[in-house]
Amino acid sequence: MCGIIGIVSNKSVSASIIGALKKLEYRGYDSAGISTISNGQINEQKCSGRVDNLEKILFQNPSRGDLGIGHVRWATHGIPNQINAHPHSSDVVSVVHNGIIENSDQLRKEYKEKGYTFKSQTDTEVITIMLTDFLKKNHLIDCIHKTLEKLEGSFALGVIFKDFDNLVVGARRGSPLAVGYGHNENFIGSDSYALKSMTNKISYLDDGDFCILYKEKVEFYNLDKKKINKEIFELSSEDNTAEKGDYRDFMSKEINEQSVTTKKCINEYLDKSRNEINIYNLPIDPSKINKIRLIACGTAYHSCLMAKYWIEEFTSLDVEADIASEFRYRKIKFNSNDLYIFVSQSGETADTYAALEKCKKNQVKTCGIVNVVESSIARMADFVLPIHAGPEIGVASTKAFIGQLIVLYLLTLKISKERGDINTEEYLKLVLDLKKLPELIEETLNKQNDIQLIARDFIKAKGTMYLGRGYSYPIAMEGALKLKELSYIHAEGYAAGEMKHGPLALIEDGMPVVVLAPKDRFFEKTISNMQEVIARGGKVLMITDDTSETMNENIRFKFQIPKTNSSINSFLLTIPIQFLAYHVALLKNCDIDKPRNLAKSVTVE
Ligand code: F6R
Repeated sequence: MCGIIGIVSNKSVSASIIGALKKLEYRGYDSAGISTISNGQINEQKCSGRVDNLEKILFQNPSRGDLGIGHVRWATHGIPNQINAHPHSSDVVSVVHNGIIENSDQLRKEYKEKGYTFKSQTDTEVITIMLTDFLKKNHLIDCIHKTLEKLEGSFALGVIFKDFDNLVVGARRGSPLAVGYGHNENFIGSDSYALKSMTNKISYLDDGDFCILYKEKVEFYNLDKKKINKEIFELSSEDNTAEKGDYRDFMSKEINEQSVTTKKCINEYLDKSRNEINIYNLPIDPSKINKIRLIACGTAYHSCLMAKYWIEEFTSLDVEADIASEFRYRKIKFNSNDLYIFVSQSGETADTYAALEKCKKNQVKTCGIVNVVESSIARMADFVLPIHAGPEIGVASTKAFIGQLIVLYLLTLKISKERGDINTEEYLKLVLDLKKLPELIEETLNKQNDIQLIARDFIKAKGTMYLGRGYSYPIAMEGALKLKELSYIHAEGYAAGEMKHGPLALIEDGMPVVVLAPKDRFFEKTISNMQEVIARGGKVLMITDDTSETMNENIRFKFQIPKTNSSINSFLLTIPIQFLAYHVALLKNCDIDKPRNLAKSVTVE
């Protein structure tokens, strides 16, 4: 949430700042701004709305200067308007901020009593005022340190100073911040993706660190103002997939890529000749694991729910799936023989990170399943399993969900085999079925026009429901989440068997209901629940691999997925629910890649 960029260079920086902000826009897009130092003055320009608006403003009135900071905002304190947009500047400093200052009300009061006035409603402005105040009597390092000491909450900062026109300061507590190294220029950015077009040499600040960028060097300091050294990582050059190409938007590109990303992920983990899953050195020997706990947020939580079903099915292990924002505050009975698995596309989600931190404090064994391998979660977990999906830019997670499912499924099979919970024959059959999955995904992707036809039924709907049992239940939850975040239509994902315990009251004439009914051991029961919906006027979109014609007259539309083994048909059910959300949103003219009120990397609580 919110994207920060800072550059100090030997040439004008505003075009590079705008370029980086466009890359960071997935983190927040309700306003944008830039500050540079030129002619000994801070030159701040900002606007509500997208980076395009800022670019137009700069076209009329260019921001000059060889150093500067930029920001894209996802509002927390104060409505998204021009005044609340970052940077927040005084005569002497300019600040961009990602995260939340929890004691900002108290600090505001304190500094108002000292005679300072505030222009915005943001928590960020207290940082500007504090730096301004501390600068009067302190050297730069003390000024930064004293300010950071007084701040509570989780944040990343970028700061420039009128009187130090050769440096940019970055600081991190809780929210991510990367440092990039160039030739006669250096950078800070909320993630390496934004810096990638400028450099492939990156370091990461740890919590409590701050840094001072000069064009020819970078100095790092820890919590105690001690100078420290940082490891420099070289980013791989393979991730050039972050462009839309011929697609209308990133989401359609990312949905359509799923057969390829699935294949890539399977190839990364599966030894072709021996059909062995290359997951070794888990932090606990699989035969000694007592229980598995899966922790994540949103779509990633749905992949954990799915894994819960797989782990229960294929292993003798006890398993729980938790929402990270709940887990982090619960009184967990930690057990050193339990394996704690954290799933996150970005690897930066604040709640998931905090839950992981809690586990680390309790000295239990952790594993991260992430897309961004340079992320905070990847760096903190004892063991990391990347999903190899490539950059996911659309705010709604699609290919990362499928990637998380693949890795969780492979991990389940690996643990199951190592523990002797399934025999070699069963294992081989499951692995061989999985190898065929990319083709089946491709086949399902090719049927997206069918979904376009039914999408119209949803655009006027007051609300809708997604129903499933067993393996289909987490996908029903995911379907509902995708529809609501993209099309702003209320949607509920329900275990089909729960309908009669309350939600059935919502069904009325013409209400669209999505029923996930693959021909698995729950099929007949799901069909009964579907008939209860149809009897009350629900218009059913049935997604199934059943080819019989019997019930068709009562069903508004049937979407056929290919047949595979029932434990992996959840992958195929996912494709039509993604397309449905996509096409409904398209018909409603919603912003597909940047749904309202959301952002990609949720680095606030
Ligand atoms: C929904 C979506 C979110 C994320 C959630 C966790 O489409 O993308 O629900 O899944 O914010 O994000 P990560 O996976 O980055 O931890």
